[in-house]
Amino acid sequence: MLVTAAVSSNVTDGLYIVAFSLFIYGMSGLTGPRTAVRGNLIAATGMAVAIISTLIQPHVFDGSSTPWLIALGLVLGTAVGIPAARRVHMTAMPQMVALFNGVGGGAVAIIAWVEYRHHFLTGGSNWALKSEIPSLLAAIIGSISFWGSNIAFGKLQGILPGRPIRLPVQVVFNVTLFLVAVASAIVLAAGTHSQALFILGILLAAAILGNMVVLPIGGADMPVVISLLNAFTGVSAALTGIALNNTALIVGGMIVGASGTILTNLMAKAMNRSVPAIVAGGFGGEVSAPAGGAAGTDGTVRSTSPADVAIQLSYARQVVIAPGYGMAVAQAQHAVRELEKALESKGVTVKFAIHPVAGRMPGHMNVLLAEADVPYDLLREMDEINPEFPNTDVTLVIGANDVTNPAAKNEPGSPIYGMPILEVDGSGAVIVLKRSMASGFAGIDNPLFYEEKTSMLFGDAKESVSEVTSEVQAL
Ligand code: TAP
Repeated sequence: MLVTAAVSSNVTDGLYIVAFSLFIYGMSGLTGPRTAVRGNLIAATGMAVAIISTLIQPHVFDGSSTPWLIALGLVLGTAVGIPAARRVHMTAMPQMVALFNGVGGGAVAIIAWVEYRHHFLTGGSNWALKSEIPSLLAAIIGSISFWGSNIAFGKLQGILPGRPIRLPVQVVFNVTLFLVAVASAIVLAAGTHSQALFILGILLAAAILGNMVVLPIGGADMPVVISLLNAFTGVSAALTGIALNNTALIVGGMIVGASGTILTNLMAKAMNRSVPAIVAGGFGGEVSAPAGGAAGTDGTVRSTSPADVAIQLSYARQVVIAPGYGMAVAQAQHAVRELEKALESKGVTVKFAIHPVAGRMPGHMNVLLAEADVPYDLLREMDEINPEFPNTDVTLVIGANDVTNPAAKNEPGSPIYGMPILEVDGSGAVIVLKRSMASGFAGIDNPLFYEEKTSMLFGDAKESVSEVTSEVQAL
């Protein structure tokens, strides 16, 4: 019997190594759109190997557990997860990630609860500190992540108001909740007769804290917050792995924790903001303050027509297309691809300028353009395209605003001062496609719109681009 268990644990460990090797190899594929789908499939295979390796452990089917419940969980998770992931619109991807991430944190908190019941209520052996401490920490972090992710989902889905919601003594309240959760964990680990009270103290304080941390953050900052909560979920899963002595959970959790932390920092850096400033909130709430005259700018705005834009584009040598969040909202990527083809057929060189935080999630523009089959070699990262603007005749800004705002370079008082931008104002002419003079995510005016070389083509990006393409084709 002992031999079987030892052999079986060696097999499991070997399979776990295969599983996390596949996770890491799969993740390396996610660094580019061409290899991303394959990378995702490889990582998913790794997850399947990890699940199977866990299920074949001797204690899973030794009569002390209920295999049909495990099967039911797998069937339910698959039945909900696959159609949800297939049907989600690209613009709703951040809230989808928030939901999936929250489920991970919730699962970790529930495991801690089950372990607590096993050791204190149903006559399990003494809960050794080496697994009790990581379990309780995982309960705190996982619970914060679960509740915080639900709020993030609610804000992005429009179920909750996107604007920051905060209490007058928010910081004091949050610190108190954190201390209550940690103190309850210490009392529980030190040994107490009121175990139920303290485990509830941990879960309740962490739940309220998760809500309170995310409620004061503006809806549009949610992608950064989700990435941060994702890192939290990873760390809590790794702690659960330590508690349960499960190598796959430790490695998988740490991969998520580390990559989530790196992604959070990259996003914050590309927006020229710090993670604490984002968590402190107050920026990027619901922003629709009109720019232009109403916002106090004296400059005039030139509006143009699809026919005029078509002429400008068709007689250009090089056109750069700078897409932003508005292209995603309008789902204009396929229309943009048609325009690119029409211009190329007239001998115009077309390139796409990709800002690292254009849109609302990392790689947002790359994903949309890849979906529309825009050739990958036409895409240029910001640092690569900026020196090319002086050699560009016309830049077409499609639903982008903040990522082209020269105030980030010229106005030290601007909230986005210091954020690197697409220097579209360096090109010969700029045409901006948007519906109105409303501001973007940062809620600030864009002096680019009032420059002499800029014309505005007002309207929904998809409709405007289609009209311009028809005019180009008719020339
Ligand atoms: P924004 O500055 O948000 O501007 C988008 C513009 O699109 C708006 O001004 C809007 O103007 C226009 N628009 C909306 N719907 C449209 C439609 N149907 N047709 C045409 N235009 C439409 O976008 P951006 O330039 O891409 O910058 C992204 C911002 O989000 C940055 O401030 C960035 O820091 C922030 N952010 C990014 C991320 C990531 S990871 N990408 C995460 C969090 C925050 P109208 O309403 O007038 O049409």
